[in-house]
Amino acid sequence: MLEKIKLDHPQLFIQAFENSAIGMALITSNGGDLLKVNQALCQILSYEKSELLTLNIKDIIHPEDSALDLHIIQTLQSGEQHSFLTERRYIHKNGHTIWALMSVSLVRDQQGNPLYYISQIQDITNRKLAEEKLREGEERYHRIVEESPDGVIIMKEERCLFINQTGLELLGLKQKRDIVGRPIYDFVHPDDHERLKQRNMQNELIGPIEKRFIRMDGKVIDVELKTIPTIYQDQQAVHAIIRDVSNQKQTKDLIINSEKLKIAGQLAAGIAHEVRNPLTAIKGFFQMMEKDLKENQMYFDVITSEINRIETILNELLVLARPQEVKYDLKNIDTIVNHVITLLKTQTNLNSIEIVKNIEPNLPPIKCNENQLKQVFINFLQNAVESMSTGGRISIYIRNQDSDSICIQIIDQGSGIPAHLLNRIGEPFFTTKEHGTGLGIMICKNIIEEHRGKLSIESSPEGTQIEISLPIV
Ligand SMILES: Nc1ncnc2c1ncn2[C@@H]1O[C@H](COP(=O)(O)OP(=O)(O)O)[C@@H](O)[C@H]1O
Ligand SMILES: [Mg+2]
Repeated sequence: MLEKIKLDHPQLFIQAFENSAIGMALITSNGGDLLKVNQALCQILSYEKSELLTLNIKDIIHPEDSALDLHIIQTLQSGEQHSFLTERRYIHKNGHTIWALMSVSLVRDQQGNPLYYISQIQDITNRKLAEEKLREGEERYHRIVEESPDGVIIMKEERCLFINQTGLELLGLKQKRDIVGRPIYDFVHPDDHERLKQRNMQNELIGPIEKRFIRMDGKVIDVELKTIPTIYQDQQAVHAIIRDVSNQKQTKDLIINSEKLKIAGQLAAGIAHEVRNPLTAIKGFFQMMEKDLKENQMYFDVITSEINRIETILNELLVLARPQEVKYDLKNIDTIVNHVITLLKTQTNLNSIEIVKNIEPNLPPIKCNENQLKQVFINFLQNAVESMSTGGRISIYIRNQDSDSICIQIIDQGSGIPAHLLNRIGEPFFTTKEHGTGLGIMICKNIIEEHRGKLSIESSPEGTQIEISLPIV
């Protein structure tokens, strides 16, 4: 066979074969034995030429890669393709893997019978390692992004290309494909669109800036947004980091609120003191007048009860300002409520308002401060009356909620509280009334909390429902 090769191939081929910088081998077409190898191949695999010539192609190819699989053999033998290019792993003499680009072609005799395969082997290990490193780097980047506690969205020209798991949860999305291809502005609060569009996210590092995002369920969340220009899938893109700061913002608002509350308290104490002194004088002189002017007894009664009420409120404000030891006694809640209803009778009659009571019999007494609770019911009933300019009904339900608490509901047929204002109710000085103080509900909340109770307010354009639950002991 060798004889034939030499005869068939001119010196030129031999020289080209020997001196090629690429590894070359002639391989028998029927068994895969190495017939001839060049120096370059010996160098790639670190074998002596004489050693290689005793081996079969299978000996130097990685066991997981078949040397010349059936597909290659068939394509070449049938003449369908003259040569075949593929990647194969070779085994270096000392055992490590060499990545190679292998091309094979079949050489035939004059009659067209297969003589041998000629194979060129180019070492591409360095390229492969670099690719591997790149892939590992990408995977690591992916993992870091995926596991990040912050939401990450990658976008191009304002459209989302990628979102991580935290991002999905943050926006209340079920699957990644729910966002891919959509404009980021679908999730940004409309009021923030303009300001965000003015920023050049594509080219500049931006943030952190505070923005409002809208979740899939419509809930608005406060987020901190930071954007970084990046390359994603070979394209200019923007890497956006989104952190939910709603809780932080709520805490901040709470602190501001409690600051306000403190100021309100101090202010209330000051005012209450100032007003109480002249009021005492008025009350005193008024009582003296009463003895002389007997004929207008009814006016006197009304004025006296009004003055008493002003006094009580002033005292309440003082209590609020300087929380002190308040006495708690066992009292019947229905007695307290009935008392308050009587107090407000004139006002409700004047406004064509009917109060309907629905009180469960035999309610246990609760440990409370009577005056404070009266204040609570006065405030809520007053609000109910004020919301019903055209009259109507206020229903009061009192029942034993469970074994350890009593539930009081005050339901009016008033104008209701608009949904967007509902979370501001109870904020000190928040009022929608021309002559309102915006202190009523705040005081109630305070008193209810001091009684370890709970307050909830629901409202619709048909009316408002106040629910107070108070522990029995
Ligand atoms: N029953 C109700 N119906 C409608 N709006 C109410 C009701 N109760 C409270 N509000 C709203 O809550 C605001 C705050 O109430 P409040 O703290 O008692 O202060 P004020 O009554 O002085 O305004 C009111 O201005 C009103 O807008
Ligand atoms: Mg009020």
